[in-house]
Amino acid sequence: METTYNYKVVRQFAIMTVIWGIVGMLVGVFIAAQLIWPELNVASFLSYGRLRPLHTNAVIFAFGGCALFATSYYCVQRTCQARLFCDKLAAFTFWGWQLVIVLAAVTLPLGITSSKEYAELEWPIDVLIALVWVAYAVVFFGTIVKRKTPHIYVANWFFGAFIITVAVLHLVNSAALPVSFWKSYSAYAGVQDAMVQWWYGHNAVGFFLTAGFLGMMYYFIPKQADRPVYSYRLSVVHFWALIFTYMWAGPHHLHYTALPDWAQSLGMLFSLILLAPSWGGMINGIMTLSGAWDKLRTDPILKFLITSLSFYGMSTFEGPMMSIKTVNALSHYTDWTVGHVHSGALGWVAMVSIGCLYYVIPRMYGRTEMYSTRLITLHFWVSTIGVVLYIAAMWIAGVMQGLMWRAVNPDGTLTYTFVESVKATYPFYTIRLLGGLVFFSGMLIMAYNVWKTAAGSRACDEAPIPQLAPAPAH
Ligand code: HEM
Ligand code: HEM
Repeated sequence: METTYNYKVVRQFAIMTVIWGIVGMLVGVFIAAQLIWPELNVASFLSYGRLRPLHTNAVIFAFGGCALFATSYYCVQRTCQARLFCDKLAAFTFWGWQLVIVLAAVTLPLGITSSKEYAELEWPIDVLIALVWVAYAVVFFGTIVKRKTPHIYVANWFFGAFIITVAVLHLVNSAALPVSFWKSYSAYAGVQDAMVQWWYGHNAVGFFLTAGFLGMMYYFIPKQADRPVYSYRLSVVHFWALIFTYMWAGPHHLHYTALPDWAQSLGMLFSLILLAPSWGGMINGIMTLSGAWDKLRTDPILKFLITSLSFYGMSTFEGPMMSIKTVNALSHYTDWTVGHVHSGALGWVAMVSIGCLYYVIPRMYGRTEMYSTRLITLHFWVSTIGVVLYIAAMWIAGVMQGLMWRAVNPDGTLTYTFVESVKATYPFYTIRLLGGLVFFSGMLIMAYNVWKTAAGSRACDEAPIPQLAPAPAH
């Protein structure tokens, strides 16, 4: 009988999350600087057009992906009181995923791309992703099947939905006809291609950047706060409402395009409905602290987790507003979208991941706490200031751009040329760069703290599974 948890693969993914976070955000800082100083486009493989997809792939799939692997593997083992199903397959998911990331880091700067946003990788890498993902599903659901607990804890529902949906999204959106080893053409054309792409794109947000991270919320907030989830019933309603609604919201990315108008309106309607389950989940997470609010004063991990939920609430209020056609007429193509993205990506995704990693990493080294709690507090403040600078700058820049583009003189001519709007944006690009640098420096503080935690202790590959008492005889 297996008596230990597999911590090795959790630790490997957790450490790589920190490393890829640093790499991905450094590229983000660099492209933010390129938007101010175009001279930084020194070579084709360092040009903005090639590094931008490298940034998005690195932060979403390398940083976010490794965080999801690490936390889902940790949570599923602990809540099922069972070792991960098949160590070898789990190791394959780790090495396979790192290979995907390295291949992305080589091919994207070389200009090898399918040109579909967030699905840029060419078909051979897509095949590898599919293999790793199937292995991930087998390991995750295999562990659920051999669980010793009668119940499947709600966090695992979110992780499970994320794994299944991402598989479906990836298979459908990446369908393509290869014409050579590094070039393929999408199986879809015209407006259908756009529709499939944004069905994928929005659900990448809903499942890769949200459902899995909600899984983290449902496991790590109760653990760190030492309180039960505020309402288990609400968590079940939250789950079904969220996964049902997200599927239909994609067309809000295609307002005022060749997509039939009714499909755009449907996308807008479902985006507005999405506010309810999103806020239901946020409230459930935050209210888990009921009776333990004082812990927020002293516990920087909880600060990260609860603040991330506030940013989640903000971006899921903002998203439905931006999906309203008349609002989108102002926000689309402007930096408002970029501000919205990063209030979700930095404020929610990165901050919740960081909080969870500070919980997981010491346990991978046989400790209950990181080397320095004060450095976690410092990291928390640095991150919060960084996000606020970033998103406030982009909001102002975005609304300004939208208003400048639509301003007309009494004779019907445009008040501003496009270049004038670019010039007016420079100060905000500088503030965004500053915010990015501040957030990035927080990651370096984290790396130092992780290094000191690891250096002072021995890595543990295994941890004992508590044995359940036998069920009482009737
Ligand atoms: C130091 C932190 C970061 C900086 C400085 C940064 C900077 C940037 C910049 C300059 C862009 C291009 C914007 C444009 O095209 O006008 C961008 C795009 C993007 N970034 Fe970041 N980023 C950071 C962190 C992150 C993180 C952690 C994530 C996700 C978890 C993320 C996700 C994205 C996405 C999805 C886009 C594409 C947005 C769109 O197409 O509208 N970024 N980022
Ligand atoms: C209720 C939830 C949400 C809704 C209804 C929503 C809605 C929207 C809308 C309307 C846009 C602008 C589309 C455009 O004009 O091109 C957008 C863009 C985006 N949102 Fe959200 N959003 C939500 C939550 C989030 C969250 C939590 C994140 C990140 C974690 C996120 C990430 C993004 C990204 C990456 C884009 C840019 C896509 C692109 O053009 O490349 N969203 N969202």
